[in-house]
Amino acid sequence: MAQQVQGVVAPGRNEPVRVETIVIPDPGPGEAVVKIQACGVCHTDLHYKQGAINDEFPFLLGHEAAGVVESVGEGVTDVAPGDFVILNWRAVCGQCRACLRGRPWYCFDTHNARQKMTLLDGTELSPALGIGAFAEKTLVAAGQCTKVDPAVAPEVAGLLGCGVMAGIGAALNTGNVGRGDTVAVIGCGGVGDAAIVGSRLAGAARIIAVDIDERKLAKAREMGATHTVDSRAGDPVEAVRELTGGFGADVVIEAVGRPETYRQAFYARDLAGTVVLVGVPTPEMKLELPLLDVFGRGGALKSSWYGDCLPSRDFPMLIDLHQQGRIDLGAFVTETIGLGEVEKAFARMHEGDVLRSVVVL
Ligand code: APR
Ligand code: ZN
Ligand code: ZN
Repeated sequence: MAQQVQGVVAPGRNEPVRVETIVIPDPGPGEAVVKIQACGVCHTDLHYKQGAINDEFPFLLGHEAAGVVESVGEGVTDVAPGDFVILNWRAVCGQCRACLRGRPWYCFDTHNARQKMTLLDGTELSPALGIGAFAEKTLVAAGQCTKVDPAVAPEVAGLLGCGVMAGIGAALNTGNVGRGDTVAVIGCGGVGDAAIVGSRLAGAARIIAVDIDERKLAKAREMGATHTVDSRAGDPVEAVRELTGGFGADVVIEAVGRPETYRQAFYARDLAGTVVLVGVPTPEMKLELPLLDVFGRGGALKSSWYGDCLPSRDFPMLIDLHQQGRIDLGAFVTETIGLGEVEKAFARMHEGDVLRSVVVL
């Protein structure tokens, strides 16, 4: 029997989001219905509301979530009702060139849930990033569910569904930060701070946090930065060089998504060092670089999607480290809110003192 629950819907471009009754079908073959316990508010949800991702309104927002599997459809064997799971953006095929390369976020043949969740009048909802988890329940493909230790707090577990995984993975997976490396992280919001946590985990010797906001730099120190650079005080590239014996960092992680910070990342790395781009630019942004610098400096320019994570490997591992007290994912949760407060959380994103607002159900 289809069921009715409450969910946060973005009805149209730049219209305020509202809590609506939505209809969740029973899970079909390969699908699961998940009772959501927590879901973080991410910039991408705001971008959906603004119509910056696509025009497929109305959206069911929320995509950084953890919860308990309620029911599964035909052929589902990896998860069962009662399992505590973290949701990921896409069920991947496991067989295409991208999947076989170990890069599932470039999969050519993803298969999310076939059935649609709807409004009461039958209007189909587009779930944000294929999830739609600012809701009491949501319908996903079973392949979007990764089982983890149910002892962890849901508001902590859910964070691995997007921003925190993107940052930690940028350091561990994409950047391959190693023992003794120097790392510079440009932009210390939730994603940059997670990159700091990942760099520390990897055994980096120096972790240089770069931001334009003193509060962010103070928080970055709490997260494990060993040095901080305020970009407003002077050229951050020079400051990073000074802190690295005049050379530049082995790995620079860019977590802003603007031309000037892309440029800083490019020049703040040591010769043959690695730049990891996590910040997402907008379509009109451009950056001009002398080709001789691109050629001559060597090393690697990499972009990082979802931290190049493999959910079945990385989610349980990071939850385990958190449970052992070796990383503190709880430090990313600034506040917990109700379903009706998502619009307020969007407004607070610009105030600068929030890493994550998390909807708890
Ligand atoms: N130089 C350094 N830091 C900057 C600059 C700049 N020119 N401009 C902004 N910042 C800092 C902000 O002060 C803030 O601390 O970058 C940080 C951005 O953080 P958030 O807005 O909280 O964003 P976050 O969720 O961390 O995501 C960062 O990663 O995944 C992407 O889409 C995401 O592009 C976004 C980026
Ligand atoms: Zn694939
Ligand atoms: Zn997100």
